[in-house]
Amino acid sequence: MPILIKNCRICANGKVYSKNILIKKDKISKITNKEPKADKTIDAKNNFVLPGLIDAHVHFREPGLTHKEDFLSGSMAAAKGGITTILDMPNTIPATATIEALEQKKRLAAKSIVNYGFNFGSTENNLEDIKKAKNIAAVKLYMDYTTGDLKISDFEVIKEILKASKMTIIHAEDEHVKNAVDILIKNKIKGRVHFAHVSSQRELEYAKSNKLKKQITVEVTPHHLFMNQNDLQHLGAFAEMKPRLKTENDQKALWHGIKNGMVDIIASDHAPHLKEEKEQANYPFGVPGVETMLPLLLDAFNKNMMTLPKIMELCCENPAKIFKIKNKGFLKEGFDADLVIADLDKRQAVRNDDLLTKCKWSPFEGKILKGWPVTTMVNGSVVYDNGNVFNIKAREVQYAG
Ligand code: DOR
Ligand code: ZN
Repeated sequence: MPILIKNCRICANGKVYSKNILIKKDKISKITNKEPKADKTIDAKNNFVLPGLIDAHVHFREPGLTHKEDFLSGSMAAAKGGITTILDMPNTIPATATIEALEQKKRLAAKSIVNYGFNFGSTENNLEDIKKAKNIAAVKLYMDYTTGDLKISDFEVIKEILKASKMTIIHAEDEHVKNAVDILIKNKIKGRVHFAHVSSQRELEYAKSNKLKKQITVEVTPHHLFMNQNDLQHLGAFAEMKPRLKTENDQKALWHGIKNGMVDIIASDHAPHLKEEKEQANYPFGVPGVETMLPLLLDAFNKNMMTLPKIMELCCENPAKIFKIKNKGFLKEGFDADLVIADLDKRQAVRNDDLLTKCKWSPFEGKILKGWPVTTMVNGSVVYDNGNVFNIKAREVQYAG
């Protein structure tokens, strides 16, 4: 049953067009000025239609930590935020660092209503499993403290992991970014490296001011873009994550990096913890983010801080390219019908009560943002529409190469 989305505004090649989008089954069949026959019509009301966002960095906490989130709650929150694909992180219990744990996670993720993929954890002694793991986005390597116990300090082990993996996402802070780059250069390692949540000017320079430009990609998070360490005064533990918030200057450097092309993607690092947990003296690190990432970026668009093509590049196109996700990231005929209709004029406050994440809080609570997703479609089915979520199962993504 074909679906026609009428009156879409879309951005392509630096221009804005008014188009109708015909969806057949799970694919974009035509982007056209005509009105082809369809069984169902959705009126986009001249709102902008973007490719669904690909969030390459989420912690959906299943298995083992499902009081904080699970694949259903996390994916519902993602759908509400205009995200149609997520890549999950391995610091669950058990960690996704064995083939068995990966298989178990694949089964659990079947309840997700947005498309999903997995990052495989590295440990001091799982090289064989790293080599065997199939259909993963990347290997995740923790060089610094994180929730769970996946941190690796031995540079020899790190070298072997980088050699064994075609694509490694590294959680490295400060000097560790430089150390990782040095290991790549010294050992002439050819595998690609993606630095997660780069949070400071120094980290950005270490990651990008070297001769490995093509091999290294950089991710920044909305919390490092829209907050800085001054926010700790009123938010306390609710603004504590790893890497921590940095200075205003560092925040500016990340924005500068977006403008000058040093930043390749934006990902939420959605890391939900319950309020009660955050209120304890030894609170855990991390903040939720899937529901607020696109609204924050659309608000930034409305403040002339960033263009819509840049949002699409950093949140849709580049994640698809970097992680080689098949058939996603672009509004193009033949591509998967993963898209989001966004009302750029809608003004609304972030409210804890509205959130679908199990943790039910956001560091951005109370902030009035202009620009919100209104409808999200995954694989040709509407999964979110104006406050309503539809429990339609999505699927695991596939990778090219
Ligand atoms: O703040 C963080 N939270 N940083 C991490 O590295 C892990 C994450 C989590 O899983 O809670
Ligand atoms: Zn993370």
